[in-house]
Amino acid sequence: MNRRRRIYEGKAKILFEGPEPGTLVQYFKDDATAGNGAKHEVMDGKGVLNNRISEFVFSKLNALGIPTHFIRRINMREQLIKEVEIIPLEIIVRNVAAGSLVKRLGLEPGTQLPRSIIEFCYKDDALGDPMVSEEHITAFGWATPQELDDIMSLAIRVNDFLSGLFMGVGIQLVDFKIEVGRLYEGDLMRIVLADEISPDSCRLWDTKTRNKLDKDRFREDLGGVVDAYREVAQRLGILVEAE
Ligand code: C5P
Repeated sequence: MNRRRRIYEGKAKILFEGPEPGTLVQYFKDDATAGNGAKHEVMDGKGVLNNRISEFVFSKLNALGIPTHFIRRINMREQLIKEVEIIPLEIIVRNVAAGSLVKRLGLEPGTQLPRSIIEFCYKDDALGDPMVSEEHITAFGWATPQELDDIMSLAIRVNDFLSGLFMGVGIQLVDFKIEVGRLYEGDLMRIVLADEISPDSCRLWDTKTRNKLDKDRFREDLGGVVDAYREVAQRLGILVEAE
């Protein structure tokens, strides 16, 4: 990985220059962070599992015609992706009350929401990713009204697919976060799914036991983080070899 030029390093991933113009290599680290980096730990094998789980989900989305940046997995920790212009938003989709929604509105954790709810946060570490409205997004030009429509329909399609996928393996999709970008192909530009979808970015509860199989195990010091991620991979039928 040293041979490649490093474009960007985030908390859990690194982006390197790709082999061809318009491509990048996304490298999954073992780092886990919470509270905007306040809590940090290295968890052996987490990056390998997230690479595999994200590959699995993005390949299925591509096959369904839901556009993503994913091209193919290169090795245990890296995937080849299309270079996109990231829109500075975190798009959160919620089906069940948990996390910051519970704190904000005083809801009982685990309450089924009347319908799926989409929230937006402005991606800015220094500000702690504040929640923003559609008005902010269009007024500040982070996305046009048309792009925002495309983002919301993409988010709903991803939610429908993911909910069914996880339900089939005895897991409830409580909520998740996605990121999107603009992909330029010739004169055309379209909004595509970027970043990753993994137990780092989703809340996943075992349907029967209500056991948490996601990053909340790290946030809440429950232990067994990597085992929970491996459980998700195994249920999805992803064979995870030792690195
Ligand atoms: O903390 P909150 O309840 O707002 O998180 C909602 C969902 O978004 C959770 O699945 C969480 O894992 C995900 N999330 C994320 N990255 C963030 C904030 C939230 O993946 N920076």
